[in-house]
Amino acid sequence: MQIDPTSTKLFTPLTFTAGHTAVRNRLVLAPMTTYSSNNDGTITPEEIEFLRRRAHGVGMAITAACRVIDHGHAFDGQWSCASDEMIPSLASAARAIHEGHALAILQIHHGGRLCPASILGHAPLAPSEVPARRPGADVPRPMTEEEIEETIKAFGAAARRAIVAGYDGVEIHGANGYLLQQFFSPHANRRSDQWGGSLENRAAFPIAVLEEVQNVVRRNAYRPFAIGYRLSPEETEDPGITLADTLQLVEGLVACRPDWLHVSTNDYFAGSLRDDADRRPRAQVIAECVRRRTSVIGVGSILSPAAAEAVLADGPDLVAMGRALVMEPEWTRKVTAGNEPLRTCLPMEGGDMLLSIPPRMYRKMLGRPGWLPLCSQEPYGASVQSIPIVA
Ligand SMILES: Cc1cc2nc3c(=O)[nH]c(=O)nc-3n(C[C@H](O)[C@H](O)[C@H](O)COP(=O)(O)O)c2cc1C
Repeated sequence: MQIDPTSTKLFTPLTFTAGHTAVRNRLVLAPMTTYSSNNDGTITPEEIEFLRRRAHGVGMAITAACRVIDHGHAFDGQWSCASDEMIPSLASAARAIHEGHALAILQIHHGGRLCPASILGHAPLAPSEVPARRPGADVPRPMTEEEIEETIKAFGAAARRAIVAGYDGVEIHGANGYLLQQFFSPHANRRSDQWGGSLENRAAFPIAVLEEVQNVVRRNAYRPFAIGYRLSPEETEDPGITLADTLQLVEGLVACRPDWLHVSTNDYFAGSLRDDADRRPRAQVIAECVRRRTSVIGVGSILSPAAAEAVLADGPDLVAMGRALVMEPEWTRKVTAGNEPLRTCLPMEGGDMLLSIPPRMYRKMLGRPGWLPLCSQEPYGASVQSIPIVA
């Protein structure tokens, strides 16, 4: 059965409760770092083109993670929103997204202990002196009270720049092991001051960042401006964040009334990373817990419209897609037209030109086995895998 845009929930609008921002449908371009900005953090034409092509059709497009302060610099080629000089560059990305009639959402970020010392020129800053559990991880230096306050303010300043640059909102990156998650994590955070110890103290930094961003938006936006928060529901470390911890963090966040919580998982349907017996999608559990007090975005390995529909039927209000839209920038058009196969693999040659993927991002994706399915080396037409377009 072909998908019918008039009967599927995927193409129904939604108004976020807090900021009164309306989104035309439930499809979200997931935030994706493109590793391709200039050394000063300004955005390159290839990155603009990547966004322009993918913003057509989705309700909102979340940008690559943008560092709010230079000691939060986590990757080569990362966007910067750490100074007012970045505003014209940030504005060019917002305009490209608006050309596709999607909401433009700037993801604001600090890498914490995952910022390589080779980029920073000094040890990374983090809640405590505990390196990430990955080979070659740098040993971080615990942040001082002044650095914590400075970083909270930097998130607010980045939100102000997003307002000036014409964005419709920001997403606070509290997921994927970066600084905000590190504060909440019993693995990364061993502090004994007001920012560590009890669950409430570990949640204090993420909540302080959300409140600062909200205050800045109240004082500066004078128009609907959405604020979302992305979190990772579990960590595999011991000690590490459990789902029960996250449900408490969620209560703290929801009390501040963000527009959405974006539950970052690699595979939406995979269930718990910590308990094999618990197969419930993490975003479904969180959607149940928030009971419509805020919107919830589900994400992870969603390729087909049928899978996207299944996520919405499960409880989340929106579906984000990353790799699916890297491989198939025309996803929404093809799904609504219903007569063309969706590309579900990355061409091994020429994909950067064909699909408007910045060359450095393309090389990275080709160089990391298993990250994206690669097309066989047959000519393009022969290697496209067709997936059924069913509602
Ligand atoms: C190339 C690439 C870059 C990414 N960069 C970010 C990022 O900047 N911020 C973020 O929160 N997640 C980032 N992610 C994670 C995605 O947003 C998404 O959660 C993940 O890829 C799973 O969804 P998918 O299967 O639809 O791709 C990135 C993923 C990819 C593939």
